[in-house]
Amino acid sequence: MMCACDCAPEKETPMNSDKPLITVRDIAWGRLQAPDLDAMEQFLVEFGMVRTARTATALYMRGTDPAHHIHVTEKGEPGFISVAYHAANENDLLRVAAIPGAMGIENIDEPGGGKRVRIKEPVNGLMIEVVHGVEVTAALEVRPRPLNWKPEALKTLGQPERLQFGPSRVKRLSHSVFATPRLKESLRWFRETLGFILTDEFYQGSIDNVVGSFNRLNRGDDEVDHHVVNCYESPHTGMQHLSYVVQDVEDLFVGHNHLKRINRYEHMRGVGYHPPGGQIFDYWLNPWGQMHEHYFPTQQFTASSPANIFSAPDAHDPTSVFANTVARPVPWNGGGSGAVSKAAALLAK
Ligand SMILES: [Fe+2]
Repeated sequence: MMCACDCAPEKETPMNSDKPLITVRDIAWGRLQAPDLDAMEQFLVEFGMVRTARTATALYMRGTDPAHHIHVTEKGEPGFISVAYHAANENDLLRVAAIPGAMGIENIDEPGGGKRVRIKEPVNGLMIEVVHGVEVTAALEVRPRPLNWKPEALKTLGQPERLQFGPSRVKRLSHSVFATPRLKESLRWFRETLGFILTDEFYQGSIDNVVGSFNRLNRGDDEVDHHVVNCYESPHTGMQHLSYVVQDVEDLFVGHNHLKRINRYEHMRGVGYHPPGGQIFDYWLNPWGQMHEHYFPTQQFTASSPANIFSAPDAHDPTSVFANTVARPVPWNGGGSGAVSKAAALLAK
């Protein structure tokens, strides 16, 4: 593990598993619950997604990449239901199904199909779906556009590519963030069970006092995002946000201005930049306080990229590289309206 500051001693990367139960290929979708599917669809369209399917009780939304859907909403009290990950093969479903408490392999009886195993991760009770064989669709066409903020900008002289106002065009799901009062145990479970590997970890005070950890997919030499799951220490347990990649930086700014202009949704933070992972971000709340991030990664990582440990500041500092890792709102949890009410109360401050 590389240390990001000169003063802190090096610390052994905890719990990266040499032999995880499985190594998931990717994050598939977040599954939320909300009482009004029309209102959720309206928010997600303004956020930049496209409807794939709608039933009487559920909404399925996609980005422009080929995934059938990357966001599921089931009708009900506002809350978090699960996050799904793609298994590399069907045998991996058998491995997960053998974990005590797993619900066995089932056919997914909803648009996109496929098979899944559902399991509650044992530390926090967060529902995880491990899926395989979900339908893949054709990518949606996105009008290509040369980037105008690179040094090559002059090449576009005489060929003005004026941006169209409107929502961002969400491309794919990138990551989820969980809050937990039992951080190290949670990280151990994710790494040993699903094969995530550590990218960046940060502590406050003592180097042993880990307060947050960014973990990525292990796809060998293939490049992946800085993190597919971020867990951070909190007195509360639950989902904190879902993050969606947009087409490019300009697309992120255009989407930001669109959401500002329509003035229907609460803006949480951004546009900003996180140096550790090179992420450009913008956070928005839907009508139930569930946070969705627009995200554009400027750096990618392979399995051999080194892990880092950082000292995090004691207090929230918006100029810090860790601005996104402290002073976060109360997460939203599954099932009840109480968690959303608490989040709304905090956000009102
Ligand atoms: Fe994020």
